[in-house]
Amino acid sequence: MTKIAVFASGSGTNFQAIIDAVQNKQLEAEIAILVCDKPNAFAIERAKENNIDVFQFIPKNFENKQAFEKVILEQLRSHDVEWIVLAGYMRLIGNTLLSAFEGRIINIHPSLLPSFPGKDAVEQAYEAKVKVTGVTIHYVDAGMDTGPIIAQAPIFIEENDTVDMVRMKIQQVEHKLYPDVLAKLLNEVESEV
Ligand code: GAR
Repeated sequence: MTKIAVFASGSGTNFQAIIDAVQNKQLEAEIAILVCDKPNAFAIERAKENNIDVFQFIPKNFENKQAFEKVILEQLRSHDVEWIVLAGYMRLIGNTLLSAFEGRIINIHPSLLPSFPGKDAVEQAYEAKVKVTGVTIHYVDAGMDTGPIIAQAPIFIEENDTVDMVRMKIQQVEHKLYPDVLAKLLNEVESEV
């Protein structure tokens, strides 16, 4: 069983979708640990409810990114983590984790990249008045929401949609696409071993 770490900073609805996919055996993986940089994030509650270990930290208590990523790396190693799955982790991944997990870090982003990278991607697309936006899943590199694209799915912004309606459409797509893509990637990895 492939061991994964999920990194989240917020409410963790994508984390929940991954938990559900593991529980219903769509995804042949074990969530070994949740890594969270926000002590009040609801994602932590979801982990506790599902008996998933949590490593939470406060970035500003460390000298720099390298210092906290070193500690994260120790945690990942002690949990035998093979893949990192970012699910609303709102920080760039630094060299320490990138080099330890080369080609094995995945991110989900709520736009059709390369359009609207960074924070508030749904709002950015809404304000730009585009008719189509969507969800991207990609490998992570040192950039902000860059890295080779694995999958994308569109959603349409209709004339009378509010930004909240667009956010809901995006979430619905995310919660299906992320488990599907992870299953394809990780179940295949598993069967190659
Ligand atoms: C998701 O929409 C995810 O795509 C986005 O954060 C949200 C987290 O929601 N990620 C980014 O914007 C990355 N740049 P969640 O905590 O409910 O899963």
